[in-house]
Amino acid sequence: MTIRDARPDEAGRIYAITRSAFLEYASDVPPPSALFETEAEVVKELAAGNHHALLAERDGKALGCVRYELDRRGLHFFRLAVLPSARRQGVAKALLARLEEVGRAHEKSRLWCHVRPKVSRNVALYESVGYALNGEDVMVRNGFVIPVGVMEKWL
Ligand SMILES: CC(C)(COP(=O)(O)OP(=O)(O)OC[C@H]1O[C@@H](n2cnc3c(N)ncnc32)[C@H](O)[C@@H]1OP(=O)(O)O)[C@@H](O)C(=O)NCCC(=O)NCCS
Repeated sequence: MTIRDARPDEAGRIYAITRSAFLEYASDVPPPSALFETEAEVVKELAAGNHHALLAERDGKALGCVRYELDRRGLHFFRLAVLPSARRQGVAKALLARLEEVGRAHEKSRLWCHVRPKVSRNVALYESVGYALNGEDVMVRNGFVIPVGVMEKWL
């Protein structure tokens, strides 16, 4: 498996993998924001350099991806996504390991993301590589109150 930076012109691939991965939450109330983004938005953010993306591939076939941004708060990543057919093979862990390298290269000592605390297998995934659930909050979207947690790891 290889992990590499996605080029802005690969935004369509990032969009498609993310959509396939998050479709399992389509019946959640409310569905995750990942299912409402458009390909044009992904293209725009990557092209503008506001967001960056890593792509995991095997034999030239894309298996997963994650997006991130760098700011004063550290490295914030989001939309960690692995195709259903490629799960439980360490793709997400490999993407998380590369994010740590990116963080170090940019002298960021904190990596963090939002989780839905009730999705315990995702919390377990991050905890297994050294993240802690620090802080719970709520997000209000389209009139829905959504509990969210912050998973963070200090390098
Ligand atoms: C969450 C997700 C990215 C995990 O991808 P993955 O490549 O299968 O994860 P890995 O193979 O690296 O698994 C790492 C660990 O996560 C946990 N895990 C992953 N899938 C799990 C499952 N279905 N049930 C329980 N634990 C699971 C395990 O601890 C696993 O380690 P193990 O295989 O040694 O037991 C993937 O399931 C996905 O795309 N889900 C939909 C989108 C999503 O929820 N993204 C995260 C938003 S916070």
